[in-house]
Amino acid sequence: MGVILQEDENSNKTVAKEKGCAAIIGNSKEIRHVFSLIKKVCDADTTVLVRGESGTGKELIAQALHYDSNRGAGPFVPVNCGAIPGELLESELFGHEKGAFTHAVRTRMGRFELADGGTVFLDEISEMSPMLQVKLLRVLQEKQFERIGGTKTISSDFRVVAATNRDLEHEVKEGRFREDLYYRLNVIPIDAPPLRSRNQDIPLLIEYFINKFTSHRKKKIKGVADDAMAVLLRYSWPGNVRELENMVERMVLLSSGTTICVDDIPERLLVRGGDEESPEEFDEIPEQGFFLNEVMADYEKRLIGMALKQTNWVKNRAAKLLNVNRTTLIEKMKRFKLTGPDSES
Ligand SMILES: Nc1ncnc2c1ncn2[C@@H]1O[C@H](COP(=O)(O)OP(=O)(O)OP(=O)(O)O)[C@@H](O)[C@H]1O
Ligand SMILES: [Mg+2]
Repeated sequence: MGVILQEDENSNKTVAKEKGCAAIIGNSKEIRHVFSLIKKVCDADTTVLVRGESGTGKELIAQALHYDSNRGAGPFVPVNCGAIPGELLESELFGHEKGAFTHAVRTRMGRFELADGGTVFLDEISEMSPMLQVKLLRVLQEKQFERIGGTKTISSDFRVVAATNRDLEHEVKEGRFREDLYYRLNVIPIDAPPLRSRNQDIPLLIEYFINKFTSHRKKKIKGVADDAMAVLLRYSWPGNVRELENMVERMVLLSSGTTICVDDIPERLLVRGGDEESPEEFDEIPEQGFFLNEVMADYEKRLIGMALKQTNWVKNRAAKLLNVNRTTLIEKMKRFKLTGPDSES
């Protein structure tokens, strides 16, 4: 299993070529920046902290850092610090000697020892207990440790990649995360961009996932209809690529034709972000930028709503006011979930 990044010269797409199972797909400026950081730092032994919301591909980035590096032939050892209870985590990481505690019936190597020549991926690092944070700091500085209950000093040549979906700086301010450990981990930060900030990658990702979910099935899906794609581009994807992946799997399963269409998309996606908040007014583009697609969709929805109100929801007249076909209007009303006081006209 592995992830390899590679420029695709023919298509001008930067994609991570599949090698075994995983690939990082994308061609946006944001994801290409991540690719270039990975290439720059993968061979250095410095600690990397991958930051980003849930589902943005932090683990994939960690794998790419490992498999693309000169440690790639060595082991990639993931540890989910949030999923393993504190006492167990210590023995998972450092190992233990036989008899070190009640259930230690035999000597066991820890993950740092197992990762000799490779990479340890410390996922959800913010969840590590204060006691383990101290121990981790020491290991990062010295690359040496003892198994629990042992006296022999063990050396292991591993590289650490850590990941977090929390704001570690905030955790430091709140006193939940050691400041010295934070600086030690954060030598090279890589930010996994949220999907909504790079929605031009959505069609590529959808194509990739459609292939993934149809390759073992008889069912063939050729693509996504334009209006359905517009809905998928407008949605804010709070669960990021993981949510998109699950959505494509579901749509592939449930679609009745060879093209994914609006009817295959769950209702909650048809209204932006599932919310009904009123659209914002802008006198100028806000400093942090905005999503043109979303703002345009809000505006469109508002204008259609206005036309419908002015014409007492008589669709023929509203369509005339807007200079669109009645069928177009109906399609847009359906997409924006605009239903009149008494629908038919
Ligand atoms: N750019 C991408 N190209 C292809 N697949 C992706 C990409 N980013 C994420 N994925 C897929 O989305 C899913 C979630 O990715 P991953 O587990 O790496 O996210 P994460 O940031 O570690 O999430 P969490 O914080 O919830 O652990 C995985 O199935 C992964 O293969
Ligand atoms: Mg993860």
